[in-house]
Amino acid sequence: MDACTGDCATAVYFDRLGAAYDGYRPPDPQLTATEIDLVLAATDHRPGHAADLMCGPGRHTLELAARGWTVTGVDRIEPSLATLRDRARAAGVDGRVHTVHGDVAATELPAAAYRLVLLLGNSFGFAADRPASLALLRRAAASLAPGGAVALEVFDRDRAPRPARKEHRLPGGGLTKTISWDAATETEHVYAVITLAEAEVRTCYRQFLPGAASVADLARAAGLTALRLPIWPSADAALYLLRAPAGAR
Ligand SMILES: C[S@@+](CC[C@H](N)C(=O)[O-])C[C@H]1O[C@@H](n2cnc3c(N)ncnc32)[C@H](O)[C@@H]1O
Repeated sequence: MDACTGDCATAVYFDRLGAAYDGYRPPDPQLTATEIDLVLAATDHRPGHAADLMCGPGRHTLELAARGWTVTGVDRIEPSLATLRDRARAAGVDGRVHTVHGDVAATELPAAAYRLVLLLGNSFGFAADRPASLALLRRAAASLAPGGAVALEVFDRDRAPRPARKEHRLPGGGLTKTISWDAATETEHVYAVITLAEAEVRTCYRQFLPGAASVADLARAAGLTALRLPIWPSADAALYLLRAPAGAR
């Protein structure tokens, strides 16, 4: 039977998925603008410096840059970053877009630099487990300028239980995921079959998906407080703004 082997490796999944991911577009063409509208309405929306962690081809990076922000996008798929640079050039915002290729767990983030750190697209848990996710959040917190915020999107398991099977169409291929859930560690184990024009790749990875209580705990452990936005366009996800408590900086 197709199943996770237990030898999970998010890196393998993303490295194999590679360029096929670049063509991903949200089903609603307005989604990215709506997400950034909501994040900026709830924060200090004057343009400044932002980081977009696990940015992929950088839909949020580009949206912020178009609004005058200077944005550093970090991702482990270099072809996605190349796509981001091309799109930034085409949009005339390349002077405000920087890319860093690497694992967010090992990428140095400058101290007290960003008014906004984005962890969007339900990517946070790709750090793979709770300790690694907390370490990432602590580094994101240290990179916030005074008054800054981390915008963290996570799947909302309470409102939308995760499916056992999921299929995506990719440009030139497809992706089928068979998902099992470990409640004790709040971790999904995903067995993925990636069908590309040239090959079929079978791999598995795990993703930590914290519920609301865990998000609050993680934020506290990173020295931040978590506020959930009342409105967020994705039916299966929630957006939390994490900030240093007033007077802490
Ligand atoms: C679901 S996509 C989301 C992309 C983007 N944030 C968005 O909302 O469109 C997840 C991205 O996380 C990246 N990623 C996963 N684990 C990573 C890691 N440890 N370091 C850097 N990037 C990572 C993948 O390469 C992929 O581009």
